[in-house]
Amino acid sequence: MNYWESTAPGEGRVAPRADALSDARRESLNGTWRFRLSSTASGTPGFEAPGFDDSGWDQVAVPGHWVLQEVTLPGTDGPRSLRGTADGPLYTNTALPMPLDPPHVPTENPTGDYRTTFTAPAGWGRTVLRFQGVDSCAKVWLNGEELGWSTGSRLPFEFEAPLVEGENTLAVRVHRWSSGTYLEDQDMWWLPGIFRDVELLERPDGGIDDHHVHASFDHLAGIGTLRVDAPVAATVEIPELGITMAAGESASIPVAPWSADSPRLYRGTLSTATESVDLAIGFRSVVIVDGRLTVNGAPVFFRGVNRHEHDPDTGRTLDRATMIRDIELMKQHNVNAVRTSHYPPHPDFLRLCDEYGLWVVEECDIETHGFIYTGWEGNPPAVAEWLPALQDRVERMVERDKNRPSVIVWSMANESWTGDNFGVLEQWIRDRDPSRVILYERDPSYRNSDFYSLMYPSLEALEAIGRREEPRPDNVTDEEDARRRTLPFLLCEYAHAMGNGPGSLLDYHRILRGSDRFCGGFVWEWIDHGFTASSGGHDDGQIMHGTDVAYRPNGGRFCLDGLVFSDRTPSPGLTELGAVLQPVSFAFAPGEVTITNEHDHGSLDHLAFRWRVEVEGELVESGLVTVPAVAAGDSATVPLPVSGSDRETWVTVEAVLAADAIWARAGHVVAFGQAQLSAGRARRDLPAPSAGRAASAGRARRDHDTITLGPATFDATSGRLTSFRGAPVDGPHLDLHRAPIENDRGQGGNNDLAAIWTAVGIDRMQHRTDVVDLAGDVLTVRGRSGPAAHGHGVEYEFRWTALADDALHLAVSVDFVGAWKDTPFRQRDIVVPRLGLRFRLPAAYAAADWFGLGPGETYVDSLTAARVGRFAAPIDALKVDYPVPQENGNHTHTRALSLSGAGVPDLHVEGAPLFDFTVRRWTSLDLERARKPRDLQDSGFVWLNLDHAQQGIGSASCGPALPAQYRIPREHTEWELTLR
Ligand code: GAL
Ligand code: MG
Repeated sequence: MNYWESTAPGEGRVAPRADALSDARRESLNGTWRFRLSSTASGTPGFEAPGFDDSGWDQVAVPGHWVLQEVTLPGTDGPRSLRGTADGPLYTNTALPMPLDPPHVPTENPTGDYRTTFTAPAGWGRTVLRFQGVDSCAKVWLNGEELGWSTGSRLPFEFEAPLVEGENTLAVRVHRWSSGTYLEDQDMWWLPGIFRDVELLERPDGGIDDHHVHASFDHLAGIGTLRVDAPVAATVEIPELGITMAAGESASIPVAPWSADSPRLYRGTLSTATESVDLAIGFRSVVIVDGRLTVNGAPVFFRGVNRHEHDPDTGRTLDRATMIRDIELMKQHNVNAVRTSHYPPHPDFLRLCDEYGLWVVEECDIETHGFIYTGWEGNPPAVAEWLPALQDRVERMVERDKNRPSVIVWSMANESWTGDNFGVLEQWIRDRDPSRVILYERDPSYRNSDFYSLMYPSLEALEAIGRREEPRPDNVTDEEDARRRTLPFLLCEYAHAMGNGPGSLLDYHRILRGSDRFCGGFVWEWIDHGFTASSGGHDDGQIMHGTDVAYRPNGGRFCLDGLVFSDRTPSPGLTELGAVLQPVSFAFAPGEVTITNEHDHGSLDHLAFRWRVEVEGELVESGLVTVPAVAAGDSATVPLPVSGSDRETWVTVEAVLAADAIWARAGHVVAFGQAQLSAGRARRDLPAPSAGRAASAGRARRDHDTITLGPATFDATSGRLTSFRGAPVDGPHLDLHRAPIENDRGQGGNNDLAAIWTAVGIDRMQHRTDVVDLAGDVLTVRGRSGPAAHGHGVEYEFRWTALADDALHLAVSVDFVGAWKDTPFRQRDIVVPRLGLRFRLPAAYAAADWFGLGPGETYVDSLTAARVGRFAAPIDALKVDYPVPQENGNHTHTRALSLSGAGVPDLHVEGAPLFDFTVRRWTSLDLERARKPRDLQDSGFVWLNLDHAQQGIGSASCGPALPAQYRIPREHTEWELTLR
């Protein structure tokens, strides 16, 4: 049996042990290595020999994935980028990119032979060679001698490394496919290579090869208990605590506990005469009490995200600055927890979580999702032969990270269905590390899990779980079901952040906060996995996804589902999440505000509070609020002596960082609340024509094919505006279409709304004008809009009235006529994503200014991050550059909008009820047709949508259908606008 096809996890490796920083010498072997790609696992025979001539080989960066670098394909000459080719990064979701023939792999198995030489560091004794991560199977030779081999891509492995004096030759053969591939079918790019650090570690005689920190906290007594175990006699020193004791002894002492809110670490050392290992102790006790997850006696609520390691250029090779960037962005957006989906991250990331404060659910590098295609026949967790490989992975994770206080939950695997091997893994973890709890989501019996857990339930299903009224899963025993009902519920994935979305974050959060059965959830997912396309090509600067590679099976665009874009630019979804998760809430009453500390463990001492009053978005008053100490879970009511006016007035209170934190500057807004002090004249400046403000006769005129009404001219045949205050205009067109967002392309028949829209032509309505009637100062236009080939449509009436002050009032009424089913056979309901008016304006309009929600884009199910205020932005800044173009840039609840530009008259719009607007240089159809942002070209016009409504965004790309309350009812509808 070939080693790469054996279910054994490896050979020759040192036993797994804690990842530690120590004063023993360490030398990085990262750098530029020689590399040669072969098409089969045989590689280049003899390459391991020290004398082998590799001068003609490619040069690649280690750590790195060869598929993201320039390498020479077998049989070609000269290195080139493999991105975008079937030899490069491949993306699949559930499907394995090879036959389900475990544990075998195809003979065509791209294999990279790596070589480097180094000089043995002077004066080292015993040396260990460590690989932090190689995908997917590596065999290693030192000076021509085989050291061993390993699978388990996202876990370290080490060999004893007998160095020779002077030059040493390291040769590593890496196979793209191996038996390990069957256990690594996560939804992500297949990225082979030595992608994490390679290091030489000096192991001094009498050094500390492993250590195990036990640091619990008794919250009733305020006492921490510390014991550090080591395989040798060693001394523990924590100067700050006055602790000096032997390894294996315990000390109990008053301490401040560790939590994500207050990540208190006590630093010290564990030393022998020859080595001193750094300790970063966080005292905490993780216990499930009466079905609630608690740490240090207080329930924990995960405001979590699922994080993959991704960089748009280097894949899963991340530098420390990038890890810190992730954590800063998380902390700045009130995220307090990370699930390391779906494998252990680089160990430095966890060290940073200890330091910055994030709860971690660490997931093992196990996912056998591909077996779904055999109906789970042969699934490794259910096959005894695979147990050693599974156990090897769990042990390597737990041993490596057992000393990280941030890690409080071990997740055994993702999406690997069921099997008895999980029982063995669970038991091993419990014996080895009783200080943490265990998660496994996919087995409906939850027999090996301390949590009940699901992904992507609907709001209703989640509510039922909160009420403890969820239906019983199939195929579980009474006992299993009864036990499951006592477990805390952890929502391991929800709110699929693909494309424009997710919606309903606030709904989910409210439900999760509403029942003590819940310990929070983890949004899917942190980052888009897109690659910057290779330089020089016509794709330059565009983001590459699965569909850009001609290859099957192919996961397509499903890899772009993050809260931050591939380059870590926050998407509007992250901004929304930050506001939903804010750990301080505000409840306003006349003259006062109640501030609630929603942290689990932290106080509000690090925050300052300030307020301001704005009248129609103009600041009139501001000040500071003095807030007394508020413990976690408590509230304080403080005076807020502000009052309204005769116009729309809002008060805003913000909680900001009082001083610099490691993750944000002083003044960073952690939370805000707003209350309306006075509504003003809700329908200000929208006088009905009958109210007596209509213009005097004579402002309306009809000659031949033109009608003039106040500041506007109309085409007498179509009834459409042709100019407004001298600027050429075309519109309104009744508009029911939006460029589908990913969530409009949901899975399952009735969730793929976009397919129905295309089928029934909602994007290509034709318009018929029946009546263009000028009577006094009132122009009535009536007609019908409908798509080719279908009988359904919309009857509309536009009633234009010239007002005295050079303004135009427009009353719109629409009725839906016909069946509004996709076909007489399928009878699928047609969901209307937009109900509004589209205008074409001259390109000279360049800036927008509005009073409404902002500053970012808003949708009915995503507007928590927005506040009521006055905002201004260039039109070109009102777009969000989704890597796959789709609807974006909507603004709900707009009271007033002004557009301006050089040489064109200002255009002011007010609406009742409040309206949605979108303004951009291309149409929705252009947006729908574009495949990449570069396809979006200035059309030479500005397109303005003034909409009565646009439906919510939801997260149906993977999850429930858009809830009914965020859809547009297909019913008789009226609304009004004033243009001036
Ligand atoms: C889950 C899975 C994730 C990802 C997500 C969809 O089923 O755990 O890895 O595939 O769905 O984006
Ligand atoms: Mg999966």
